[in-house]
Amino acid sequence: MAAAPRRGKPAGGRDPAPDRAAAIGQYRRRAATYDLELAAFEPLRREAVRRLGLRPGETVLDVACGTGLSFGLLHAALGPQGRIVGVEQSHEMLERARRRVADEGWHHVELIESPVEDFAWRGRADAALLHFTHDVLQQPRAVDRVLAHLRPGARIVATGLKWAPRWALAVNAAVRVAAWRSTTTLAGLDRPWRLLEARIGPMTVEARLVGAVYVAQGVVPSHR
Ligand SMILES: C[S@@+](CC[C@H](N)C(=O)[O-])C[C@H]1O[C@@H](n2cnc3c(N)ncnc32)[C@H](O)[C@@H]1O
Repeated sequence: MAAAPRRGKPAGGRDPAPDRAAAIGQYRRRAATYDLELAAFEPLRREAVRRLGLRPGETVLDVACGTGLSFGLLHAALGPQGRIVGVEQSHEMLERARRRVADEGWHHVELIESPVEDFAWRGRADAALLHFTHDVLQQPRAVDRVLAHLRPGARIVATGLKWAPRWALAVNAAVRVAAWRSTTTLAGLDRPWRLLEARIGPMTVEARLVGAVYVAQGVVPSHR
């Protein structure tokens, strides 16, 4: 049986770090229904891809790409000369991404089945999309791995759940339920882009849905 997500706070009172085995189990169970569940968030996906400012012929990393729901939008922005590199650790999610790529006949999509914190790819992309990838953003090694595969000046857009203001009790109850389903840690939900920002410098962040969702964007500095 798949490992259950670790939810309880340990003795120190801190939320646990992301749990790889739990995440793999979570998305093995969710893969078949994932695309339907995400339908309500498609406007946010469109906004995230638009904010990447992709140009024809560029290369984009789709970090924790899931079933490849962003590929169509990325493909449209990059054109046939562009490249999409999708990294994903869930075999079941990536199988669906593979099928999507085959069905569409896209030849410029490379899929890598790996935890982001360990992935290897020979190249440096022009942009990275981290759409609803909370567990990835909470792991220093994963964030470093993403940045190691981006060129100076590359654009990054991260989106996802976050805690709404304290007074929005019902909204935060909904965030908790959604996070329970899609992440393995509640740690960092106050400012999910914190690790990324610590490495690349100030990001522009906008909140959506009464503060329950964020869109953060930044640029890899040239001195990294
Ligand atoms: C909410 S889904 C988002 C999928 C996709 N980015 C999208 O926009 O639909 C989170 C994804 O992150 C993947 N994931 C979580 N932790 C990961 C890690 N450390 N390395 C690679 N993938 C990871 C999960 O398997 C899942 O597919």
